[in-house]
Amino acid sequence: MDNRPIGVYDSGFGGLSVWRELYRALPEESLIYLGDGKNCPYGSLSEERIRELAEKAVGELIERGCKMVVVACNTATAAAINHLREKFSFLPIVGLEPAVKPACQLSRSGRVAVLATERSLQSEKLRMAVERYATDVEVIKAVGRGFVEAVERCEEQSEATEKMVSEVVEPLIEQGADVIVLGCTHYPFLKGVLRRVVGSRDVRIIDSGEAVEKRVESLLDRYSLRADEENEAKYEFLTYADEEYRERLRRKAFDK
Ligand code: DGL
Repeated sequence: MDNRPIGVYDSGFGGLSVWRELYRALPEESLIYLGDGKNCPYGSLSEERIRELAEKAVGELIERGCKMVVVACNTATAAAINHLREKFSFLPIVGLEPAVKPACQLSRSGRVAVLATERSLQSEKLRMAVERYATDVEVIKAVGRGFVEAVERCEEQSEATEKMVSEVVEPLIEQGADVIVLGCTHYPFLKGVLRRVVGSRDVRIIDSGEAVEKRVESLLDRYSLRADEENEAKYEFLTYADEEYRERLRRKAFDK
């Protein structure tokens, strides 16, 4: 039994979509969430800069006693996961990958769309996933321009956000995509708007939250890291932004 916390890291609020899955499925596990906030969005930063930021953040979570770290950010995973696993090879580090495999299995039209940040869409990880799983499926890639910023401003429900989402998503549906993969951990917070845009059309929206949670469980078992069933979990929220941002992180985490 190991009651040390699991660290969860993202550029900002997005990783809370993964945090919520862990919170729901693993109530005995303590969690420390680090949402950078100061350098968000990461999507347009250089790979080198993201690696630097990710190393600092993961290093901090380890210093605070985490037994495992989840890089709950597709962009940071794409840019830094190999580097992080080399640097901190003594503990398990889980990364995020867009759900290309299940999307291809679900699609009936033979066209799926991956929505992500520019950097994630250009990544080797996505290229490999497409090569491996989308053998007879066409993958349309689209940047969710402005999506991360809208979630950071907590404007998921505004009219302007719906218009912005619609402008990106409509063309994907028009091109025949019947599965939309959310390849950025901020985007699940826009699911309500996405569903409104999709309306009654037969289009599925999927993300990686649950798959990551399952991966965390399998690693907890593999390395005998599970917390005691009786453990009273603690939840901590950290940021490089200010106290107000930290408070918003906490509120968003527990928001229904
Ligand atoms: N949550 C990050 C991701 O999954 C957002 C990237 C950003 O900060 O631009 O890609």
